[in-house]
Amino acid sequence: MNIKGVIERYKEYLPVTEKTPIITLCEGNTPLVRAVELEKMLNLNAEVYLKFEGQNPTGSFKDRGMTLAVSKAKEEGMQAVMCASTGNTSASASAYAVRAGMKSFVVIPEGNIALGKLAQALIHGATVIAINGNFDVALKLVREITDEYPVALVNSINPYRIEGQKTGSFEICDDLGFAPDYHFIPVGNAGNITAYWKGYKEYKEAGKINNLPKMMGFQAAGACPIVEGRVFEHPETIATAIRIGNPASWKMAEAARDESGGLIDKVTDDEIIESYKILAKNVGVFCEPASAASVAGLIKTVKSGYFNDKQADIKLKIVCILTGHGLKDPDRAIKCVSSPETVEANKENILKLMGY
Ligand code: F0G
Repeated sequence: MNIKGVIERYKEYLPVTEKTPIITLCEGNTPLVRAVELEKMLNLNAEVYLKFEGQNPTGSFKDRGMTLAVSKAKEEGMQAVMCASTGNTSASASAYAVRAGMKSFVVIPEGNIALGKLAQALIHGATVIAINGNFDVALKLVREITDEYPVALVNSINPYRIEGQKTGSFEICDDLGFAPDYHFIPVGNAGNITAYWKGYKEYKEAGKINNLPKMMGFQAAGACPIVEGRVFEHPETIATAIRIGNPASWKMAEAARDESGGLIDKVTDDEIIESYKILAKNVGVFCEPASAASVAGLIKTVKSGYFNDKQADIKLKIVCILTGHGLKDPDRAIKCVSSPETVEANKENILKLMGY
């Protein structure tokens, strides 16, 4: 039973005191699903696990960081929170603001956030401001405003967000009993890769694990500033959650890559959609397109021969983070499949379509 949330569960590793009001929706404790189907498809001597963060209260990993960011904002006496968002941060911020009795303001790129995420922010009562600019422009404006006004910034440049999100690593290690060898993760604003790497390092220092995983980050090919070492003024990808051209935690993502001996690479929209469909049709897990970038990255990495010399007698342990739920973006799912056929309402017609 998850009646605690990540702050209660991991408070010894988090910057909280008895005075911190714990604003929670019982986030965390998400499933680590073994994907045998993927292992077979990849023909890899490995155990592949999917950390399904879509099972968090607002349907994405953001809740891990938001519980702490909003709790600390409340402790500091703030009355409102604000974020720029490609959708999930705004859904999470607005829900946790409700729990805290605070106002929420969210700035989103017009026309480029999934419908479910927009619905969430609106129904939670956030003031939603759509701008004719992308996420990077929104974040710049939000930084300026929160610098000048008594409103707490809850994007991942808020260090409490990273602190909360590092609990994802703790859960993986607690569930497996050890750290994985490889950690595949989508990269957008680069807060999550930063948080996971911090979590693993802290768990090692605490003596909970012996090894550290290699951090394998994946950006969308049309929005891959870290891979190409340049800002993307006009990032483009169907994975709108990671449509980011100038990530705030750029340097920290590079540090995670370099310290762990991992890599940050790109995957095309076609590769993302292919993995998104494989996860749904072959594994039974429905994540949002951006989340599938981790699995697309794994498939690409296997195909490139990267693991050829690394498959020892013992099976590699690989974890892919699925950052958000597929129901966030139903439009994309519907576009990827053929629509159901409508027939006259009789048994024969139905049986025919059933193939009997
Ligand atoms: N996956 C999903 C579903 C996301 O929503 C995000 C980021 C990422 C991956 C990338 O994580 O930014 O920590 O590297 N979404 C942010 C938002 C930007 O506003 O919801 P990151």
